[in-house]
Amino acid sequence: MDPILFFDLKTQAKRLRAGIEKRLHAVLDHGAYINGPEVAELERTLERLTGAPHALAVASGTDSLVIAMMGEDLGPGDAVFIPTFTYNATCNAVLMTGATPVFVDVDPATFNINVEHLAHQVEAVAKAGKLKPRMVVPVDLYGLPADYARIEAIAARHGMTILADAAQSLGGAQKGKSVGNLCAMTATSFYPSKTLGAYGDGGAMFTNDPARLSRWASIRWHGTDDARKESVMVGLNGRLDSMQCAVLLEKLTVFTEEIATRRRIADAYRAGLGNAVTLQHVPEGSESAWGLFTITVENRDRFQAELAEKKVPTAIYYQKPLHRHRAFAPFAPREGELKHAESLSGRIVSLPFHPYLSEAQIAHICDAVRKAA
Ligand SMILES: Cc1ncc(COP(=O)(O)O)c(C=O)c1O
Repeated sequence: MDPILFFDLKTQAKRLRAGIEKRLHAVLDHGAYINGPEVAELERTLERLTGAPHALAVASGTDSLVIAMMGEDLGPGDAVFIPTFTYNATCNAVLMTGATPVFVDVDPATFNINVEHLAHQVEAVAKAGKLKPRMVVPVDLYGLPADYARIEAIAARHGMTILADAAQSLGGAQKGKSVGNLCAMTATSFYPSKTLGAYGDGGAMFTNDPARLSRWASIRWHGTDDARKESVMVGLNGRLDSMQCAVLLEKLTVFTEEIATRRRIADAYRAGLGNAVTLQHVPEGSESAWGLFTITVENRDRFQAELAEKKVPTAIYYQKPLHRHRAFAPFAPREGELKHAESLSGRIVSLPFHPYLSEAQIAHICDAVRKAA
């Protein structure tokens, strides 16, 4: 059996090498390293993949969040509701606009934003009257889409927009619709280990609103007008270069197949682990993209050590909820308010996960997990 890797980027690179080289040589031949034809080709391919009417390629997942928030003119006095159990980029993006992050607890079964607690936090902010509820940013944790229908109902009651942080969930779906097309705005990341990963940084944004698309395109290019002659709003350099688009286009030729393989491996894990550990609950009608396969265990240090002995690497996403980070502590609510996230951060652990795990490796991992649990 080959050594088990937590993420395996090399096997796919070997498989796609000839096609990727051809694509990269085409960029070298035309020389349009910025805004080459690959950028629009990638955007149209992502639209077909997700069913979202408009896609825009950007420089990173973080930029996709920042540009979407800038596009809504977020600023001081605005409240943005985010789950506390996510990557720090979700919160950094809010703070970069000058808006205030309001932390929301997570659901103990799905690990995604807790809709009851969201409703409670929104009511509390509206009642206090200091901040205006403006936006909810659900995060599709580990690839599982958040509960968009119920979040939409809360957002609509308070005139808020929804921006999905789908950095981990491209390839997921809900009620027959793909991630990218589940709410008003979606941001995703092409960090190399994501379900669709570049060979460097990258990201994309999705919307059904042409007015939003046009603002985002301007912000992505320093806030200039279509002719790029005049600044019409504040912007930044959020472009995705032609080389990364070329790599992504080649990877997209196997993306749907890889997502199907991820699902098969997740099913094999779920069958193989039985009741030995607690799994992330996938609600009826939702399909995870399986960006990560994450379980909870009670004695995590011992569990990880036993798996390491059997050459099964594990990782923790995330060690601390955001409100426990020094940079975000000023926005922490009263002690005990975010109890599910507190509890989860001490118990979650992710198993090796990528579409190139062999059956023998999966069997070995399941066996090791069952024994260590
Ligand atoms: C939930 C979440 N949001 C945002 C990001 C930021 O994406 P990027 O690293 O491409 O800027 C990540 C990346 O890991 C993420 O997992």
